[in-house]
Amino acid sequence: METQLKKNSQDRVAEINRLFLFTDEDKYFFNQIVDQTAKIFNVPISMISILGADEQRFISKKGISADGTPLSIAFCAHTILNKDVFIVNDAQNHSLFKNNPLVTGDPHVRFYAGVSIISKKNVPLGALCVIDHVARNISPHEIHFLETTSQLLSNVIENRARDIKRKRRLLNIYRKRMVEASKMASLGEMASGIAHEVNNPLSIISAKVYQTKTILKNSDININKANECLSAVDDTVFRIANIVKGLKRFARKSTQDPHSLVTISQIVDETLAFCKHRLLTKSIRLDIQIDEEYLITCNPTGISQVLINLMNNAIDAIKGLDEKWIELKITKVNGRLIISLRDSGKGIPQAIVEKIMNPFFTTKPIGHGTGLGLSISKGIIEDHGGRLFYNQGSPHTEFIIELPETVFPATLMTA
Ligand SMILES: Nc1ncnc2c1ncn2[C@@H]1O[C@H](COP(=O)(O)OP(=O)(O)OP(=O)(O)O)[C@@H](O)[C@H]1O
Ligand SMILES: [Mg+2]
Repeated sequence: METQLKKNSQDRVAEINRLFLFTDEDKYFFNQIVDQTAKIFNVPISMISILGADEQRFISKKGISADGTPLSIAFCAHTILNKDVFIVNDAQNHSLFKNNPLVTGDPHVRFYAGVSIISKKNVPLGALCVIDHVARNISPHEIHFLETTSQLLSNVIENRARDIKRKRRLLNIYRKRMVEASKMASLGEMASGIAHEVNNPLSIISAKVYQTKTILKNSDININKANECLSAVDDTVFRIANIVKGLKRFARKSTQDPHSLVTISQIVDETLAFCKHRLLTKSIRLDIQIDEEYLITCNPTGISQVLINLMNNAIDAIKGLDEKWIELKITKVNGRLIISLRDSGKGIPQAIVEKIMNPFFTTKPIGHGTGLGLSISKGIIEDHGGRLFYNQGSPHTEFIIELPETVFPATLMTA
């Protein structure tokens, strides 16, 4: 039996995935069917069992605590190989089942009746079944009920899969919109910092132009001095142009951005351009440790947006403390890039830790936080195949970004 089941497990597993059968959402109709079936048969146990490659999983159940069993002992594994309803009137006196651990031990199966659940693509997926602790017979009525309910279940399964797919597509669109919205919100928040970043070099330009004019007024023109002034103007214009370029890139819709190869320092520099001013005005010490220059394939604006979010959260959390520092540490462990952002805060209270990644969860006053920062950041990192998490084990508040395999030492590029 097991070999036969293993042989067609590939098709079955593909259908289970297509139909999201091992996904824990939208189980309302499954639970209703299981409940009704138990009531009609007047039995303590009823379930929908789906057969994976090696195990059966009870995706909806009544009267049993286990979530599944190995295929080797599953009654439903016999059902799935039958077109008709599979009936065991008295398992204790059945040659196939009398030594089965589900009969000799918990849940002490005596009576079993199950019907195959077949997908619209004609692949048997598992069974709807009822179990009793006492031996009994089954009526033609009850057999008919199981047969029609199994057909109904096939429809319910298809409709549920369609709904889940549609919901996920909408969520994805919504998340992408939220990324843009939160980016615009943080741009607004950073406006004063950016103004400062541009104002500073503008005053340098103004001073240098004044100096050049004074030199030119002099009959004994000092060409070298004038050139020096003009070079300083040139450099400073370049600095402003870079800030504007960064801003433009940040403001652009980035969710569809292709991935490109950048050094980790480029990302850190872009991030700091946006946070430097806030760090300075709040007298926060920033310590950056990059153990080696790395190249990563990523959406650079996305990663920088995550770092800006984490940095802003850290600044908000510690700005009122006596001890104010933030530490950004970048290393590579087992081929994965680990970016740790630690601040001098003493960790996030246990009561809210579970919620911080939820959209719209914020402890900030109205108008100061949308509560979207971490949830969007998590999405961006997961889109890169990585993870973003809060490190509960750290004595100071620490968030960790892990990015997968596409990380190389930058020296490879120059070699
Ligand atoms: N470094 C940190 N220290 C202490 N608490 C933090 C830290 N980072 C996040 N939090 C907590 O997590 C909550 C959610 O953070 P998140 O970035 O998602 O939203 P927000 O910062 O409140 O709003 P937004 O990011 O939209 O401005 C914060 O309100 C705060 O309570
Ligand atoms: Mg935030």
